[in-house]
Amino acid sequence: MNTVKPPLSDDLARVLIDEDSISKRVSELADEINAKYRNIEEPLILVGVLKGSFIFMADLVRRLTIPHVVDFIAISSYGKKGTERGEVRLLMDTRENLAGHHVLIVEDILDSGSTLSYLIRTFGARGTKSVETAVFLDKPARHVIPVDIQFRGFEIPDVWVVGYGLDYKERHRTLPYIAEMIPEK
Ligand code: IMP
Ligand code: MG
Repeated sequence: MNTVKPPLSDDLARVLIDEDSISKRVSELADEINAKYRNIEEPLILVGVLKGSFIFMADLVRRLTIPHVVDFIAISSYGKKGTERGEVRLLMDTRENLAGHHVLIVEDILDSGSTLSYLIRTFGARGTKSVETAVFLDKPARHVIPVDIQFRGFEIPDVWVVGYGLDYKERHRTLPYIAEMIPEK
């Protein structure tokens, strides 16, 4: 293992969650998911929300022992000026037919809640057996629409974070840790 760490980029304030803590927490979440769905008949369909969830998804599914299928969707959200409420639109749907399956939505971060509440509603209307959510990060201070989270990685303060799939204008998405950005002046 290379133990020499590159210095923190100068637009980042600090590391909020390091690699070891991430790995430990993802294993715990996988254990919880394995336990919760151990008796299902059809494979669990995990639906990752692109792009932010792809690294969390990759780490999570490699720790699952239950039968499962990986799928992804792409959405876009428009923030209306002056309000916190974003309008969500599906850009790319799942390949799988979700009807008759337990579905687990895999998201990088819960902010206002508009993305997840839209997805829970949309997938719930497709004859799914259940729709639950695994969210790597949660910013409780930002919630506008209440959303039920069954599997939550970490609660974080109201700061912009990057790494482990999350970006700022496509920057820092592939950092192995979660870091806090220094706000732009
Ligand atoms: P929501 O619909 O407001 O809950 O927004 C969730 C989406 O906003 C996430 O899937 C992210 O794409 C994005 N987002 C919110 N906060 C952050 C952050 O701190 N860093 C990177 N992306 C974020
Ligand atoms: Mg996202």
